Amino acid sequence: AWSKVPLGPPDAILGITEAYKADKFDEKINLGVGAYRDDAGQPYVLPSVKEAELRLLTQLLDKEYAGITGVPTFTKLAAQLAYSPSCPALQEDRIVITQSISGTGALRIGGEFLAKWYPYGKTIYVPTPTWANHGAVFRDSGLEVKSYRYYDKATISLDLDGMLEDIEAAPVNSVILLHACAHNPTGVDPTPEQWRKISEIVKKRDHFVFFDMAYQGFASGDTDRDAYALRYFVEQGHQLVLSQSFAKNMGLYGERVGAFSMVVHSAEEKKRVDSQLKIIVRPMYSNPPIHGARIAAEVLSDVGLYKQWLVEVKGMAERIIKMRHLLKQHLEELGSTRNWSHITSQIGMFCYTGLTPEQVDTLRTEYSVYMTRDGRISVAGITTKNVKRLAESIHAVTK
Ligand code: LMR
Repeated sequence: AWSKVPLGPPDAILGITEAYKADKFDEKINLGVGAYRDDAGQPYVLPSVKEAELRLLTQLLDKEYAGITGVPTFTKLAAQLAYSPSCPALQEDRIVITQSISGTGALRIGGEFLAKWYPYGKTIYVPTPTWANHGAVFRDSGLEVKSYRYYDKATISLDLDGMLEDIEAAPVNSVILLHACAHNPTGVDPTPEQWRKISEIVKKRDHFVFFDMAYQGFASGDTDRDAYALRYFVEQGHQLVLSQSFAKNMGLYGERVGAFSMVVHSAEEKKRVDSQLKIIVRPMYSNPPIHGARIAAEVLSDVGLYKQWLVEVKGMAERIIKMRHLLKQHLEELGSTRNWSHITSQIGMFCYTGLTPEQVDTLRTEYSVYMTRDGRISVAGITTKNVKRLAESIHAVTK
């Protein structure tokens, strides 16, 4: 039956992990997937998360199904973390929220909802470049995907004018996807003042905003600061939806913990929208897994654990910043004449190095250094032990 099924290409990001695993060289370096590592290059289970998990274990909770929209204590706290507990829309009961299979699942629920119910067209505009999976998620949801300018290769910074021009030129009522913080893959975010300009244009054109917030806490080390754009847009009265992930900031990758939420006009509207979200989720996966959501809820609800978690998030962000400085320093010490200032000016988990696909291929085949072909490196994969060899390898292919 499957003789006509063609062989598909490996995934642009997760395919790198597969190739890395197959490499026998013991000094191989994986800078592909955005997953935090400690300085020994090991996966990091946050101590606050471990403690929360231990507490849950001792409670011997049952394994009953969650509701279609997930564990309510979790979704309530997730909304507070994103929008802030004092957000008027939350207090007025105007935020619809459902648990999701992490950020990707949230994007998919949002894509499906917009494709089914958004009355003003089926096109979503995403930045160039954007996360490698955005296009597929939204296309498979039934949306048409177009792009707006975001990153200027020449200046290695935000192309604000291009971005504003493209957003203004999009037909009124278009859906605009914005990375809330720690833009993936470029590590370049708008400043608060630039966000205000973006908000103005979005408002002028009556666009609808889809925020993707997969890295809250990773941009500045502060979860409130990283929610600036989202909260500002809510304050400005934008109609918007939000995808949240706890993969990175709680290190709950494989537990698949996330949420999809929508700010709507009234509690009455919330009821209608919520009923339709359930109708979208139920045939896809029925209801979400409970374990990770319970862990996140425990961390977010216990004052002590919550404080501890904030310190741990900051610690991860700080180690990444340290590795940025070390990598740049090593490249300079090796005599590289290139300008590497973007390694330290970019923020979040990634550095958009400017390496070409050919250089990336050489790094992989000759140096066992793995990264996505757009030249993005996950800085979290750098350690004090591998940074020198990494710098030498990058220098060798960029001389
Ligand atoms: C990434 O961009 O590396 C992460 O978001 C992981 C993923 O699922 O692609």
